[in-house]
Amino acid sequence: MRVGSYDLVRLLARGGMADIYLGRGADGRLAAVKVMNRRRALDAEAAAMFLDETKLGMLFDHPNIVETLEVGTEAGQPYCVMELVHGVDLRAMLNAAAAAGTRIPYGVAVTMVIEVAAGLEHAHRRAAPDGTPLQLVHRDVSLSNVMVGHDGTVKILDFGIASTAVQTVHTAPGIVRGKASYMAPEQCLAEAIDARADVFALGVVLYEITTGMRCFHGTSDFERMVAVVRGAYHLPSAIYADFPAELEHVIARALARCPDQRYQSCAELANALADVQLLHGWEGDIVGWMYSLYGQVPLPDGAAPAAPAASLTIPARPRFARGTNSDGYEPRDTTMTRMELASDFGSSDEDDEPTRGTMRLRLGTNSIAPGGNTS
Ligand SMILES: Nc1ncnc2c1ncn2[C@@H]1O[C@H](COP(=O)(O)OP(=O)(O)O)[C@@H](O)[C@H]1O
Ligand SMILES: [Mg+2]
Repeated sequence: MRVGSYDLVRLLARGGMADIYLGRGADGRLAAVKVMNRRRALDAEAAAMFLDETKLGMLFDHPNIVETLEVGTEAGQPYCVMELVHGVDLRAMLNAAAAAGTRIPYGVAVTMVIEVAAGLEHAHRRAAPDGTPLQLVHRDVSLSNVMVGHDGTVKILDFGIASTAVQTVHTAPGIVRGKASYMAPEQCLAEAIDARADVFALGVVLYEITTGMRCFHGTSDFERMVAVVRGAYHLPSAIYADFPAELEHVIARALARCPDQRYQSCAELANALADVQLLHGWEGDIVGWMYSLYGQVPLPDGAAPAAPAASLTIPARPRFARGTNSDGYEPRDTTMTRMELASDFGSSDEDDEPTRGTMRLRLGTNSIAPGGNTS
């Protein structure tokens, strides 16, 4: 099959509304080609939104944002061609680390989040060609939307449901879009959001990659959103007694329920993380970590990548110790074992699907008891 000027080689991943293929251009260059499902493409509004929003990707020029090369429609199906990241998304990485009985080293986790923050900061500051600030919010920052390359690159992707001030297709008021367990409280409540909603979501990502645990639990999107709105999560130090206090402090501030109490920008969050990194003297060797987890992974076209300069030994971490329940919130299973840790993020998207214009959440303010543990 051919899409635009790219031949589709094989399926790489299946997303909520689109499939991602490995594509090869006329010049032999490999790329990732995202093609909207035929069924979804029948919905004219959804198709227009896909094109509108993937075109946003062309406004960016940043090493931490996946580059968009081409956007178009082929046989009625909208598609977008992106640079190929030879690596894994963060969810796959967490699952691989859990399967290997280890956790992502703090220095690596913090470095990756600093890089994602840099990409988001770039997006947040973008202006339209006429100088109008775009006031862009990604709205879907999550584990599966961050790719990490075997070469150490970290890139945010999927601006598929981003909102801007200059978009032609808007989300109707009161409609909630995003992934339930990464959405900021104000996003869950369908209130006005700004870049600080992305700070919150990146805080959830930071929590999950440093603890190896889900931040906001629930068996349904509704339950997960209630947990978010209540600020109901286990403090990392309640899970790991030796969890660095400074890192926990950064997480708590990023996850503050009120946007005014959070870091006001991704740059601020990145600076706070850089301070913690420096204080602890943590190393951020992403290439070494990827090599220790995956070994040498050949490029899809068969060419072998260069071996990393030095292989890294990942320091062993103390095993998970059960902590106290910090906020009276009970996840579905309070006996958290290595097994749960390994299966926690699953491989299917079923509890991690972005809600795309189909969900409305009505929460009376008095039905939600304040019970947060953010400071
Ligand atoms: N440029 C890329 N290079 C490599 N893998 C990618 C790329 N873009 C997406 N993927 C993989 O495909 C998955 C889904 O892509 P994404 O753009 O997030 O689609 P969706 O909107 O369906 O979530 C990602 O989680 C990632 O694993
Ligand atoms: Mg995605």
